[in-house]
Amino acid sequence: MIIKTPDQIEGIRKACHLTRDILDSLDGRILPGITTEHINTWVHEMTIAAGAVPAPLNYRGYPKSVCTSINEVICHGIPSQDRVLKEGDIINIDVTSILGGYYGDSSRMYLVGNVSEAARRLVEVTRQCLAVGIEQVRPGNTVGDIGYAIQQLAEGSGYSVVRAFVGHGTGVSFHEAPDVPHYGEPGAGVTLVPNMVFTIEPMINIGGYHATVLEDGWTAVTTDGSLSAQWEHTVRVTENGVEVMTGR
Ligand code: MF3
Ligand code: CO
Ligand code: CO
Repeated sequence: MIIKTPDQIEGIRKACHLTRDILDSLDGRILPGITTEHINTWVHEMTIAAGAVPAPLNYRGYPKSVCTSINEVICHGIPSQDRVLKEGDIINIDVTSILGGYYGDSSRMYLVGNVSEAARRLVEVTRQCLAVGIEQVRPGNTVGDIGYAIQQLAEGSGYSVVRAFVGHGTGVSFHEAPDVPHYGEPGAGVTLVPNMVFTIEPMINIGGYHATVLEDGWTAVTTDGSLSAQWEHTVRVTENGVEVMTGR
């Protein structure tokens, strides 16, 4: 359902707070020398310890409990004991928890040791892209207003907005209506009404926006090999604005 009931909102909020707390707990641990398999184990164990289920595991055949997307990987990177983090990497960690049947979906960027100025700027502008998207969330605005604000900032900063993956309704299942593109025109698309719950999760590239999915059927990389960054929150439309459900 595109409009959530008060009971559903309460449940989704708990799942979202767990997702937020799992991401918080990774601060300081994403260091040179660890593998993405270690991150998978930490996220999996924290999720289970909280009485929740990691939504990615077995979702449409996805083999792990979290997505770990490094450097030119746009999204859906699969954790592996063969991928050791190295100084200068940038990594998106995307956590979705199912608690009491409700979903909370959020992702953040982590810098591995000393990172180039170009990569740090991309990560920071992408975080601002999420922020300006969230600022557009209020009853009467549309998903096009969100996409327009994000696209203006990204392209105005010399970057491109990934088209192949979009934000999405969430809460009662992983991916629900509506789609929330990170590009678009003011006033276009679905109109926001109170108690809609959806993600905003801009993927921003230094080069072109085209994506290529690798042979594993999941890992999406920039076609031109340029760096990509992403930040994601689950948000709720309130009576007069927004609740960032995976925030504080
Ligand atoms: N968490 C991702 C999103 O933001 C979806 C991951 S699907 C998976 O929508 F199967 F790769 F986990
Ligand atoms: Co999402
Ligand atoms: Co996600």
